[in-house]
Amino acid sequence: MTGPILGVETTCDETSAAVLDRRGQILGMVIHSQDVHRIYGGVVPELAARDHLKRIEPVVSAALAEAGVERRELRAVAVAAAPGLIGALLVGVSWARAAAFALGVPWVPVHHMEGHLFGPVLEDPDAVPPFVALLVSGGHTLLLWVPEWGRYHLLGQTRDDAAGEAFDKVAKLLGLPYPGGPAVQEAAREGDPSRYRFPRPMMRATGSGAFDFSFSGLKTSVAQTVAGIGAGRGLEGERAHLAASFQQAVVDVLTAKTLAATRAVGCDRVLLGGGVSANGPLRARFREALGHGGRLFVGSPRVSLDNGAMIARAGQFRLDRGDFGRLRDARASVTIPGMTPWVHDSPRNGYRN
Ligand code: KG4
Ligand code: ZN
Repeated sequence: MTGPILGVETTCDETSAAVLDRRGQILGMVIHSQDVHRIYGGVVPELAARDHLKRIEPVVSAALAEAGVERRELRAVAVAAAPGLIGALLVGVSWARAAAFALGVPWVPVHHMEGHLFGPVLEDPDAVPPFVALLVSGGHTLLLWVPEWGRYHLLGQTRDDAAGEAFDKVAKLLGLPYPGGPAVQEAAREGDPSRYRFPRPMMRATGSGAFDFSFSGLKTSVAQTVAGIGAGRGLEGERAHLAASFQQAVVDVLTAKTLAATRAVGCDRVLLGGGVSANGPLRARFREALGHGGRLFVGSPRVSLDNGAMIARAGQFRLDRGDFGRLRDARASVTIPGMTPWVHDSPRNGYRN
């Protein structure tokens, strides 16, 4: 049981496959980002599924060729089985199950967000629990206390839009392309982040919602400001300032909540995962805020955005543990195996430090 493992990712608009050796090193990885959605300004589920179907075989073949690994050498086939677009998920899961059956090896269903937790450790062997994890992607915003792999205490999550979704929607309002995150970050470079004072929703919330997020009010505030400016030359001149001011509001909220969480659990090791963690100003702010005392674990964009390697790495963990939680098939929506609510000061939290 020491052979390499294949990881397959098709939850949204990336078709990716990667091969890892038994130590978790990436031997080969291919990521195909679909651009069939560009003209629609967002992901069209049916087009995503069809494109995955077309790409999956060549993407896997290319990853295996890069790794110099033959299919018969594989120890297992891991696949992101949830959450995501059901048609897209079914392509990856059906492919992985069929491949594993043909090869006589196990298929390993992986939760996509657990995959994101395993992104940074692909590049940094120190990126292991205990840590407070902020997972920020197009569909999720999760704040977790992770005392050890497989134990995920949910501190807070978004009550409406995900952080990445807010970037994507604001990009659309500003006339920027999809995906919005990189476009907003780029536009913001020339902008003054203090030009517009957008709200920081729930930043000072206390009690049971202290670690929850809300981004839809912020998005509405940007929409109203844009409507007030009007289209054309006015917006043209303000775009960079709007992007910078919005980005600043998101960064403020994400860092404030995560740092409050580190104080609540008594651990100043922080892991950032998911596509939004590729954001430059967000990383810079965390680096600065954690200073010399704390530790920040964040991968390069290659392992932060959707990729097959994080799925293979989480799959290795699940396979060794022999526990896939409730994941048995493609599921559009299901919680991470091992996730439980966080109860302040409970010994069940695995409180450390
Ligand atoms: O994790 P991910 O690749 O896919 C999902 O699981 O959703 O995250 C994609 C999200 C998109 O919303 C995209 O706009 C955002 O991550 N994103 C960024 C940046 N790069 C990608 N957001 C802010 N700044 C970036 N540089
Ligand atoms: Zn993702």
